Amino acid sequence: VLVVEDNEDDTQLLLRELRRGGFEPVHSRIETAEAMRAALEGREWDLVICDYSMPRFTAREALNILKESQIEIPFIILSGSITEEAAVEALRAGAHDFIVKGNLARLLPAVERELREAETRRARKQLEDQLRQAQKMESVGRLAGGIAHDFNNLLTIIAGYSQLGLELVSPKDPVAGHLGEIKRAADRAAELTRQLLAFSRRQVLSFQVINLNAIVTGMDRMLRRLIGEDVELETRLAPGLGRVKADPGQIEQVIMNLAINARDAMPWGGKLTLETRNVELDEKYAASHASVKPGPYVLLAVSDSGAGMDKEVLEHIFEPFFTTKEQGKGTGLGLAMVYGTIKQCGGFIWVYSEKGKGATFKIYLPLVEEGEEGEATQAVEERPLTGTETILLVEDETGVRGLAEQVLADYGYRVLAASRGEEALRLAAQSDGPLHLLLTDVVMPGMSGRELAERLHPSKPGLKVLYMSGYTDEAIVRHGVLEEGVEFLQKPFTPQALARKVRQVLDGG
Ligand SMILES: Nc1ncnc2c1ncn2[C@@H]1O[C@H](COP(=O)(O)OP(=O)(O)OP(=O)(O)O)[C@@H](O)[C@H]1O
Ligand SMILES: [Mg+2]
Repeated sequence: VLVVEDNEDDTQLLLRELRRGGFEPVHSRIETAEAMRAALEGREWDLVICDYSMPRFTAREALNILKESQIEIPFIILSGSITEEAAVEALRAGAHDFIVKGNLARLLPAVERELREAETRRARKQLEDQLRQAQKMESVGRLAGGIAHDFNNLLTIIAGYSQLGLELVSPKDPVAGHLGEIKRAADRAAELTRQLLAFSRRQVLSFQVINLNAIVTGMDRMLRRLIGEDVELETRLAPGLGRVKADPGQIEQVIMNLAINARDAMPWGGKLTLETRNVELDEKYAASHASVKPGPYVLLAVSDSGAGMDKEVLEHIFEPFFTTKEQGKGTGLGLAMVYGTIKQCGGFIWVYSEKGKGATFKIYLPLVEEGEEGEATQAVEERPLTGTETILLVEDETGVRGLAEQVLADYGYRVLAASRGEEALRLAAQSDGPLHLLLTDVVMPGMSGRELAERLHPSKPGLKVLYMSGYTDEAIVRHGVLEEGVEFLQKPFTPQALARKVRQVLDGG
């Protein structure tokens, strides 16, 4: 309690009354404006109880100071005598209640009520802040996803043609050097777009049922190398940890991003702690955390003893391109990727930090019911990538179509190329030989790739289908998960990736 009062006896009376109500008040008594400002800055208060008028200070002035400081705690006036006008005036100005010293019995109920209401206000404000934050991330995500989508097409063309050009010139030719630079720049740009897609939750994930303990254990050596000798690594893995559904590769990426950030925050050494635990989030937790459904979760907490963050930084850390690191040191995409990936897995992430006191990132992923099994990962074996089959290629973007046609022809395939669905149907009807594969964009003007595949199916029942897209459109991907049996190639792709995927789909069952 911050007691604004010139009389020590009255203060003791007031404290005794609070103790009688079961409180254990810690207090400080002040009687000037300067002392009040200093007190508000110095520590956190739950409540202000203020005399109405003092020789050097008034309740009105005290109220103004509290408002200026934007600290939202109850302000109760306790006065020897107060006129009705003055009381109404004080309430209008924002005081929460006023009590006459002669009627101290009213104090306890008033304090209890005001503390309760302040807690409700605080919780509501926290929820509102979280919602606003989520909405902001949502719209930034849409923007980033849109840009990344269009960029993917362009990068596919740039990187693809650079690669084709490189194969045409001798490595000694100066042109080879130039093309190599273009190719490298395009690859770097593709890496950035990949992270942006991850942030906007549009990456294609291959979900498996996994144990986070196994992932953390598997990363142990790599993490130690990453954080260096000055940082101690401690892992506290709960035995009997529940399993979660996630893309193991992406989860490793998440842990790595968090570990790199932690290392950067501890240039003089410190401690990195990875902890896993089963937790049950109840209704009460859900009520105070936006978009959380109550239920069983698996917690992964990553803590460091580094520099920590102040409130301003905390408000922005998950935004793409937000970084406090010097130019060239960070792109500000690490945590954006982490955020998008965790959301796409149906989980959520919170950060707790104070300047100079380290940071803790808490990731909650929904627990998977017993019995749900992980998909077996397929072993990849290297086979020749060439073939002589006939491929119907449908892509409305001329550059991408030209590139794919060229690459597939180079690998020996016979290619029928069309820019839209209608044209593809016509080509398929005219072609006399067998048609082995439909390689199609997903979103095209007129007919979608999905629709085209369905229309072709009756006349070409054995036709295999491979979709390609810059992002995971709803047409083939629901909530980031590929439908059973759908083959998909993410743009931008390299000529080799295209050839490999085409071969794999043609050879697949
Ligand atoms: N553990 C941490 N301790 C202190 N500050 C952190 C921590 N993690 C993140 N930050 C702050 O959040 C900012 C954003 O982090 P983020 O990982 O998104 O980008 P970055 O690390 O700056 O760049 P990038 O990860 O793309 O290389 C950082 O620049 C840093 O200021
Ligand atoms: Mg980072």
